Amino acid sequence: MKSACWVAGILIALGVGIGAGAAPKSSPAALTFVREGVVVRVVDRATLASCGIERVVIDDPYYGKSKSFWACPLREVLEMGFGPAIDRERDADGDANYFLRALDGFTKPASGAKLTEEGGYLALSDAELGSPTAPRWEPIDRRQVDPGPFYLVWNKPHQNDIHHYPWPYQLATIEIAAFETEYPHTLPSASASDSAAHDGFRIFRVECIACHAINGEGGMIGPDLNVPRSIVEYRPADQIKAFIRDPQAFRYTTMPAHPHLTDSQLDALVAYFTAMKDLKHDPRGH
Ligand code: HEC
Repeated sequence: MKSACWVAGILIALGVGIGAGAAPKSSPAALTFVREGVVVRVVDRATLASCGIERVVIDDPYYGKSKSFWACPLREVLEMGFGPAIDRERDADGDANYFLRALDGFTKPASGAKLTEEGGYLALSDAELGSPTAPRWEPIDRRQVDPGPFYLVWNKPHQNDIHHYPWPYQLATIEIAAFETEYPHTLPSASASDSAAHDGFRIFRVECIACHAINGEGGMIGPDLNVPRSIVEYRPADQIKAFIRDPQAFRYTTMPAHPHLTDSQLDALVAYFTAMKDLKHDPRGH
């Protein structure tokens, strides 16, 4: 037991050292493109770097300062992976049909309309520290992790918003799939489409599902909020709402604050959790 702790201590010390020193990346140096569960292309770093790479200056919400990166226009990257006929139309009503998967379990859904907007770039390296083929990065976010292999950034002022534009770091895979196929058990299927539960579901898809799963479907950064027990089965609604708006008031956590959500949007999220409590589907079989 003692020696196991000792080994763990060394590993933690090593991990911290690697992060702080912005050492060369050991994580996969390729970006994987998937369509409906099937890998369509794996593009390595050298090939990506031929995408019309440029040095972009970004007002970065995670670093909280101006940063410069070696980056490719995201639209070029998507065409490189999926071909020129990238999906834009299917999500005309704003539905997500792209899933941006990070190495750490973060999975951000995003619409093709948004991803092909002007201003989106795939960063291959910090431009101050490394080059597109020999990347180096400054540790990012509260967790101070290495943002490689790839980091999605935006350069227009209205896109500088992690709640409404996807800014995944440690990006490794981009998938095209219908939301309903990818996450079928997250839908509040017993509620009317104009119900508060549906409103809450729409907010959850945009703001929360990148980190939280419902019924095992979604991101893995935070806890699953429906199984084995729903959050509304062990926390009072007022506390859930206060936590979502300002988690730092409860504990020092990596969950971001959501000060922009209104009272009725928070009520809608609770209505969504309450509806899902009766639609449990636990892939682990509890
Ligand atoms: C960047 C990742 C991230 C996002 C985005 C995020 N959360 Fe979290 N959340 C976490 C993590 C990590 C925890 C784990 C507990 C902790 O660290 O406080 C958590 C915990 C929670 C909890 C449990 C609190 C408790 O009582 O233990 C609730 C409820 C919650 N989140 C709801 C939400 C909702 C609703 C949204 C969207 C509006 C959201 N979260 C967005 C990462 C995230």
